[in-house]
Amino acid sequence: MLQKNQAVGVVGSGAMGAGIAQVAAIAGHRVVVYDNNNAALQRSEQALTATLQKLQEKGKLANASEILERFTFSNNLNDLSECNLIIEAIVENLQVKQQIFAALEKQACDDCVLATNTSSLSVTAIAAACQQPERVIGLHFFNPPPLMALVEVIPALQTAPALVERAKELMVSWGKLPVVTRDTPGFIVNRVARPYYGEALRIYEEGIADMATIDWAMTELGGFRMGPFALMDYIGHDVNYVVTETVFQSFFYDPRYKPSFTQKRLLEAGWLGRKSGRGFYNYAEGTALPEPVKDEVLGTQIMERVVAMLINEAVEALYLKIASAKDLETAVTKGVNYPKGLLQWCNDLQAARVLQILDSLHQQYGEDRYRASVLLRKLARDEQGISID
Ligand SMILES: NC(=O)c1ccc[n+]([C@@H]2O[C@H](COP(=O)([O-])OP(=O)(O)OC[C@H]3O[C@@H](n4cnc5c(N)ncnc54)[C@H](O)[C@@H]3O)[C@@H](O)[C@H]2O)c1
Repeated sequence: MLQKNQAVGVVGSGAMGAGIAQVAAIAGHRVVVYDNNNAALQRSEQALTATLQKLQEKGKLANASEILERFTFSNNLNDLSECNLIIEAIVENLQVKQQIFAALEKQACDDCVLATNTSSLSVTAIAAACQQPERVIGLHFFNPPPLMALVEVIPALQTAPALVERAKELMVSWGKLPVVTRDTPGFIVNRVARPYYGEALRIYEEGIADMATIDWAMTELGGFRMGPFALMDYIGHDVNYVVTETVFQSFFYDPRYKPSFTQKRLLEAGWLGRKSGRGFYNYAEGTALPEPVKDEVLGTQIMERVVAMLINEAVEALYLKIASAKDLETAVTKGVNYPKGLLQWCNDLQAARVLQILDSLHQQYGEDRYRASVLLRKLARDEQGISID
């Protein structure tokens, strides 16, 4: 897709753009970083300089100054005309992204690939703003791009099929782990991971357990690195809640993805989580975090309920061919650091057991939210495991 001597353009020099620019430059490309905000450009230049120097001091990089020379920071779209790949990472707004893609296409050379780092918008709708939509693709990096190996590669409806393989090869050459996903809301990770937050919130709202106990159950008994409430506080409710709401709307209000008022109120209060000092938990100095009730029977029920919902989501994504089994597993182990792939988890627990948990919830609540995937039902009936490789 791209030779080392070809340049990469990065549009938007915020958290994601600066990180993607760093990855591309370390991989050997010249990188043009474009932003329409000069202060943002300056900040990203300073941050990149400091980061590369620090990496050199730690012995992780031999040639920080050589890599720094590969960057051009610009507020002029014309400077992107020498690039063979442009990755857009500006504000998450469809109209604004469509405008920039239409403008980029006018500047870019004929064989330049145009990629978007959108996390929740339709790549197809972004591509539709272009005269040559076949050269548009989604490359969804995770935060922070230099540290997170996963990249979701998302062909739009219009994307030239050959571009998918080329994009995957390029990501591998940048040291990334690409997975291919269909252009549906949330792609893989932001779709499959939703119950980790949503079901935990539901369990809390029903008064089945407090937040600390749910977090304890998921970490101690489930093996997750962070409990759902601690994780939502870490991500920030301005990001996590908005993704949930977008996914819910984009799925035509499927109750499986329904947002929670508990989280919405936090956002309204400005209690965004760790970054504002308060979210579900209070992070003010001297404030002790609440203690969990370490009841293993209750904890196991909570953990199995959340895990069953996650497995159902992954099995349904497999059934609907959103991604291959292997890519679904890579996405959750590398994108959200789950202790194991959800399809493997389904095999380990056995589909019949997962189905039993879901059917019992479905019967208890009578809600579509708990409907089991047809594939899960088939696997349980045939006593089959999922073939992952
Ligand atoms: N932050 C994350 O965790 C994360 C993860 C994956 C994907 N994304 C996606 O990446 C994109 C960028 O997110 P971010 O967190 O880096 O945002 P950010 O707010 O940190 O940075 C966005 C940058 O884009 C610039 N910008 C905005 N509109 C512009 C325009 N019209 N022309 C040129 N520059 C413009 C802003 O000045 C800013 O510097 C979004 O689409 C987001 O959904 C974010």
